[in-house]
Amino acid sequence: MRVTMIGSGYVGLVSGACFADFGHEVICVDLDAGKIAALNRGEIPIFEPGLDDLVASNVRAGRLSFTTELPASVREADAVFIAVGTPSRRGDGHADLSYVHQAARDVVAAIEGFTVVVTKSTVPVGTGDEVERIMREARPDADFAVVSNPEFLREGAAIADFKRPDRIVIGTEDERARKVMEELYRPLYLNAAPLLFTARRTSELIKYAGNAFLATKITFINEMADLCERVGANVQEVARGIGLDNRIGSKFLHAGPGYGGSCFPKDTLALIKTAQDMESPLRIVETVVAVNDQRKRAMARKVVAACGGSVRGKRIAVLGLAFKPNTDDMREAPSLAIITALIDAGAQVVAFDPESMDSARPLLPEIEYAPDAYSCLEGADALVIVTEWNAFRALDLERVKAALRRPVVIDLRNIYRSSEMRERGFDYVNIGNA
Ligand code: UDX
Repeated sequence: MRVTMIGSGYVGLVSGACFADFGHEVICVDLDAGKIAALNRGEIPIFEPGLDDLVASNVRAGRLSFTTELPASVREADAVFIAVGTPSRRGDGHADLSYVHQAARDVVAAIEGFTVVVTKSTVPVGTGDEVERIMREARPDADFAVVSNPEFLREGAAIADFKRPDRIVIGTEDERARKVMEELYRPLYLNAAPLLFTARRTSELIKYAGNAFLATKITFINEMADLCERVGANVQEVARGIGLDNRIGSKFLHAGPGYGGSCFPKDTLALIKTAQDMESPLRIVETVVAVNDQRKRAMARKVVAACGGSVRGKRIAVLGLAFKPNTDDMREAPSLAIITALIDAGAQVVAFDPESMDSARPLLPEIEYAPDAYSCLEGADALVIVTEWNAFRALDLERVKAALRRPVVIDLRNIYRSSEMRERGFDYVNIGNA
């Protein structure tokens, strides 16, 4: 099949490379000439494990190419995916659909023959209808079907998530489109990944409902962790104890400093707005968003408490800045709010992250950046673990202790065992563990 990806950002690039790897002929399009030139030189603009090799091998095989020329790439395509950004609109939290709508106009002007137009970006319910309306109005004669096919890719595990998904959701009631989508995902569906066909609006809502549910699960265990600290229970054991119930499931029950990233914060907000507009408010999700926002500053207060009630004039070492490991993404990272609150409280902050320091620098210009984990700790009054990179789990704890001025460790990701840390003489605080 011939596939065109409009938007060579995270979703477009990963999906494009994976479709090419399935044997399809894929063209990735982007307006950003600099980005396309870099991709054509073999440079991948994002950090995603395995993506550079996947792109390189498919480019070599002649199945994957990059261009700024939208009309030519769309003309021959069987399926055109719209994978452009849908940022939160400044002011009201609604998803900004201007890029999606522009892509729809550009695509319809160029298509020839029956073309399936797929919205891959996370878009509010009804966007597919609007895309169809825009396209139909522009060219009443054009032969196309608009399909919703949300992505469920996790950063850092995106290729595995694409190739071994729990399910593929496809919102269309058009028979010809259904055949094209089945053919596109054939390798997966031969591997028994369920292809779930639904109406378009249902498919659009599945994406938001899924992310809101996961955000709720995380927030639930985070609040439970706070209660564990008060009553003398252990949140990791509570999570295991409830997670073994198949109805609950063990995933997404790691208590931490609150969720961040490019999806959960944006999607929960957009869903709340849609629900309010429809006069069918999602009060649980509204509470999740509020609790998660407050949690980040509460983490800073936890650090202050562990430092004896004040961090004024103290040097605080922060390990981990990205919103989660295996990514350089700083979007909505808890580290931003935590570090800002520590600076407001008079601390001097020094940080290290294996991948995200370049993206962190403009967002946190007032802190010091260390070249590696051990030098970050040198002379610090406390160590705060904010992102659970494996490299931090493997630190030599005796070296850590020797480097710190005071052996205070606030582990916001529960990567160390409290009994071991206390035996080694650390003043150790973690999440949900009295
Ligand atoms: C998420 C969804 O998982 C994915 O399906 C969707 O398409 C995009 O959004 P991503 O943002 O890459 O993916 O990260 P994810 O691994 O889901 O983590 C999100 C946030 O939740 C991170 O800040 C992470 O630290 C936090 N989290 C996750 C927890 O605090 N505890 C958990 O148990 C799981």
